[in-house]
Amino acid sequence: MIFKQVFAEQVTKLVEGIIPYETVLKMIEKPKYESHGDFAFPCFELAKHYAKSPSLISAELAGKIDAPLFEKVESVGGYINVFLQKEKVASQTIQSILEKKNHYGDEMIGNNKTITIDFSSPNIAKPFSMGHLRSTVIGNALSLIAEKSGYQVIRLNHLGDWGTQFGKLIVAYTKWGIEEEVRKSPIKELLALYVKFHQEAEKDPSLNDLGRAAFKKLEHGDEETIQLWRWFRDESLKEFMKIYNQLGISFDSFDGEAFYNEKMEKVVKQLSAKGLLVESQGAYVVELEGFPPSLIKKSDGTTLYATRDLAAAIYRQETYQFTKSLYVVGYEQTLHFKQLFAVLEKMGYYWQKGMAHIPFGMILKEGKKMSTRKGKLVLLEEVIEEAIQLALRNIEEKNPNLSNKEEVAKQVGVGAIIFHDLKNFRLHDIEFSLEDMLRFEGETGPYVQYTHARAASLLRKGKYVEQSNDGSTFIDPEAWPIIKLLMDFPQTITRALDDYDPSQIAKILLDISKSFNKYYAVVKILDEPHKQARLSLVYAVNIVLKEGLRLLGIKAPEEM
Ligand code: ARG
Repeated sequence: MIFKQVFAEQVTKLVEGIIPYETVLKMIEKPKYESHGDFAFPCFELAKHYAKSPSLISAELAGKIDAPLFEKVESVGGYINVFLQKEKVASQTIQSILEKKNHYGDEMIGNNKTITIDFSSPNIAKPFSMGHLRSTVIGNALSLIAEKSGYQVIRLNHLGDWGTQFGKLIVAYTKWGIEEEVRKSPIKELLALYVKFHQEAEKDPSLNDLGRAAFKKLEHGDEETIQLWRWFRDESLKEFMKIYNQLGISFDSFDGEAFYNEKMEKVVKQLSAKGLLVESQGAYVVELEGFPPSLIKKSDGTTLYATRDLAAAIYRQETYQFTKSLYVVGYEQTLHFKQLFAVLEKMGYYWQKGMAHIPFGMILKEGKKMSTRKGKLVLLEEVIEEAIQLALRNIEEKNPNLSNKEEVAKQVGVGAIIFHDLKNFRLHDIEFSLEDMLRFEGETGPYVQYTHARAASLLRKGKYVEQSNDGSTFIDPEAWPIIKLLMDFPQTITRALDDYDPSQIAKILLDISKSFNKYYAVVKILDEPHKQARLSLVYAVNIVLKEGLRLLGIKAPEEM
């Protein structure tokens, strides 16, 4: 918040612009030890410019820093350490939170510009995979964070609903499918048909030709084929909607790959007009520097995933005029997106600079990739249901008299899954363990939710009613670590967006929870005469935890 900015401004002025303000701001560190103050600026860079030792420079600069907000300024080993005036910082921070409530941390960085976020994007007729769960959860959090930062967010679900595999599926259904069975459990049945197709095609390769022919019919709009395809799509989407409802996630569009079927011809023409299309063994490719060529049209005339993404990118720019366009997709597709962006650049689309692939790691079970394909079919919907049941059992143990147990269990079970994913930097692989996620202690979603509920309960017990001078007195030194974290919350949101990394928010929520629980253990919050002042801090914690959880896509029950 402003205190760090004031410090950065002072340093920038003192070094006469040798280092620009933005860089100074980024260079300011948070010292590990409290004895080193609240902020520190390292002077090692400056040593090059001044031809003096860092400690000489820090000593000189420290003497010149003048700000009534700082308690003291020290020079230690090449660092300028500043100590904030606890009373002032505490009251400004708490007052600002109580004034803005859930709008604390709102920014106008985005200036209402549009950002499209392509996330979740599962493949129809297949189970919703763990990878799609990660994309869903990360993409949703990034959407919420971007909105809070002043962007207009368009949530896009680019359904995998087109491609040769649907030709195969149609052949399999026509040969072996039973309508009733598919209606009963679409994903399971369609998957079984797809697997059967591959088994049979091993013995009889001519099936593959039939599959290709069926897809060609689909691409050319054959009515009967389209009807089957549409039915598979509708049934699959119904299943996916159950998961989105459980997670509380919505989209602005479900236009998937099929939607771009008619839009591809134009793109192919454009590529050819720009002289970018090269024939290669009957197929058409765009050659790229530094990467393998991008395949645009196969030798049998059919198009590909890449062609559809090309058409989609152009359509999205035309439709939404995005400044940024994100794709939350597993890291296995890194090359695909590099090629996509490179082709757009070759086409002369300057706006491709605003596009980014946001990759993520895998979900592992006992160290191995969790697969929904082979062996036992794990349906995500059932995994979520299991988490909710487990949460319900925990709640029944801890708080048997809770009135809306079912609803809270849902919020806790779902919150646990989401938090477990988001607390890790997205590129790290994560281990999937329902028991671990649902613990009420340790680094879990339920722990943060529980801390929020504890704060809410204190406010009820203390019959807290807001007053205009709340936050104006700083009583307990034990509260200082909490205040500093609350002060950092807005910046953390900005950084999480800059790095496309919601884990920074999850981490600060854990830190706030830990320091609040420490405070709760040693300070008698409800004792007079300082009850009101302390409860205003409790309220500030309550507000920030709730808002932080919301940004991750997690509900914060008042009681649990
Ligand atoms: N359906 C794809 C998959 O499951 C992900 C699509 C991602 N979005 C995109 N525009 N390519 O691998």
